[in-house]
Amino acid sequence: FADTSANLQTEKFSPQQIQAALNEAYAKFKDDRTGANATYIPILGKMPSELFGISLVTVDGHVYTAGDVDQKFSMQSISKVFTLAQVIKESGLKAVEDNIGVDATGDVFNSIEAIETHKGKEMNPFVNPGAIATTSMVQGKNREEIWSKIIGIYNDFAGTKLTVLDEVYKSEAATNQRNQAIGKLMFAYGRIKEDPDRATDIYTEQCSVGVDAKNLAAMAATLANGGTNPVTHKAVITAEQAENVMAVMATAGLYDDSGKWLVKTGLPAKSGVGGGVIAISPGRFGIGAFSPRLDEAGNSVRAQLAIEYVTNALHANPY
Ligand code: DON
Repeated sequence: FADTSANLQTEKFSPQQIQAALNEAYAKFKDDRTGANATYIPILGKMPSELFGISLVTVDGHVYTAGDVDQKFSMQSISKVFTLAQVIKESGLKAVEDNIGVDATGDVFNSIEAIETHKGKEMNPFVNPGAIATTSMVQGKNREEIWSKIIGIYNDFAGTKLTVLDEVYKSEAATNQRNQAIGKLMFAYGRIKEDPDRATDIYTEQCSVGVDAKNLAAMAATLANGGTNPVTHKAVITAEQAENVMAVMATAGLYDDSGKWLVKTGLPAKSGVGGGVIAISPGRFGIGAFSPRLDEAGNSVRAQLAIEYVTNALHANPY
């Protein structure tokens, strides 16, 4: 066992092999039309479904790409990872464990039943109730200060300035009554301490931050690299904080399909209904993939297939 794990740590792939893995994944899945765009946020239904891009960033800062990697799309639930990072950085993991919990609910990401079952506890930070509560834990004296911390840490993870896709924010803000209800219910159970409407609004804005596949890969690579951005070399969070974030990703990153995902790839990952998925090979690389068509659980079909392919090609499944 020790030998196998040592090999995994040291196994090296050439830049040509890594690029070939991405090219093969792109070619193999580019014609897959399974699934459908999300439409419950109306503007997501308008994104061209054919778009498909994959990017990989290694912990030594090399960037690989295939397909539509300059297309901006909204982070959606992938944002939850980086807001959690901010809260762990400011308040520690224990505050998250005590107020929200870190176990998977096993229910869909916007389940109200899950809140009722546990009276607002045991909601992990990646389902909407736990995520809105996580956003409410970011410290700041007003909305502006809270927002600047959230976008600030996203920028540090990405190594570049990200901006909100205003049309996505407006589309979701006009149709997010279910999340507003979730926010209020989490307030009623004492898991959100003040102003649940503001927490839901900030959460909606964080979901609307625009990224491309390269941005996502850089963000994932920062986690893979112990919390330090491998391109800018900025230490964003500590290695221990990065481990905590990745552990929650492994538990609940793909919602009720997290177990299936872990069996296929062994990697911590997170999806968003905008079509993005990130995955991390700790100590080696981060991947970001994007394609708008989703499966029943709300996870991008082609992004999952591409990441699974690259993971296998680069022998990155630790199990
Ligand atoms: O709150 C929502 O429903 C969306 N802003 C985000 C949900 C999401 O991305 C779930 N992901 N697969």
